[in-house]
Amino acid sequence: MKPIITERLTIREFRPNDLGEIYRILDVELKFKDSNQQDSSIGQRKKWLDWTIQGYEQNRLLLNPPYGDNAIILKDSLQLIGTCGFAPVLAPLGLIPYYRYIADVSDIERNYPEVGLFFAISPHYQCRGFAYEAAMALMNYGFEKLKLQRIVGITHIQNNPSIAVLKRLGMRVETLPNQKLMQVVGIAENNDEWKNIIKKAG
Ligand SMILES: CC(C)(COP(=O)(O)OP(=O)(O)OC[C@H]1O[C@@H](n2cnc3c(N)ncnc32)[C@H](O)[C@@H]1OP(=O)(O)O)[C@@H](O)C(=O)NCCC(=O)NCCS
Repeated sequence: MKPIITERLTIREFRPNDLGEIYRILDVELKFKDSNQQDSSIGQRKKWLDWTIQGYEQNRLLLNPPYGDNAIILKDSLQLIGTCGFAPVLAPLGLIPYYRYIADVSDIERNYPEVGLFFAISPHYQCRGFAYEAAMALMNYGFEKLKLQRIVGITHIQNNPSIAVLKRLGMRVETLPNQKLMQVVGIAENNDEWKNIIKKAG
C-alpha cells in the first residue's frame, strides 16, 4: 500500500529496521500474546516482521487486498507509535441481527468473510486520537480505493478504548457477550451515511 498521509500521521509499510520499536510497543508495552497465549520474543517478532514485509509484495503479485500491518508514524518527529491495517475476518457474523439484515444471511451457523480493521498504539501516545485518525484514513482507503461494501472491527467487551474508537468511526457497534472471539463487532457500510461521516471528519 502506498503511504497514507493524514493531518498528524504517516501510515506506511513496515521496514526491517522498525523491529526494535515495534517489538517494544507490541510485546513490551502492550504485552501482546499469540493465539496460544504465549508472549513474543524479539526473535518471534522478527519472524512476524519478515512475514509482514514479504506479505506486501506477495499480496501485490497475487492482486490480493493489502492485508497486514502498517506502521503508524508521527509526521512531526518520525516516531513510530503503533500499527494498523486490514485483516481477513471469517466469523459467524450472522449471529448479529444487523449483519443478518444487511448481508442477507441465510444460515447463522455459517462463517462469513469480511475485511476487518485493527489498530494498536503505544501507551505513551494513547488517548490523543491517533488510533481514530489512522483507522479513519484506512476506512476511507477501504471504501474509496478498495471499493469495499463494508468494514468490520472486532474486539473484546472489556476493551473500552477500542469500542470507543469503533463508535467514533461511525460504526454500528453490536455486542455478543457469550462469544469468545467476537464479543463486540463494529460494522460500517459503504453508503451515503459513511460519505457524510467522511465529509464531517474533513
Ligand atoms: C485501542 C487503542 C488502539 C486506542 O488507541 P488511542 O490512540 O488511545 O485511541 P483514540 O485516542 O483514538 O481514542 C481512544 C478512545 O477511548 C476512550 N477511552 C480511553 N480509555 C478508556 C476507558 N478506560 N474507558 C472508556 N473509554 C476509554 C477515549 O476517551 C477515546 O474515546 P473518544 O475519542 O470518544 O473520547 C489502544 O488503546 C491500544 O493500542 N490498545 C491495545 C491494542 C488493542 O486493543 N487494539 C484494538 C484491537 S482491534
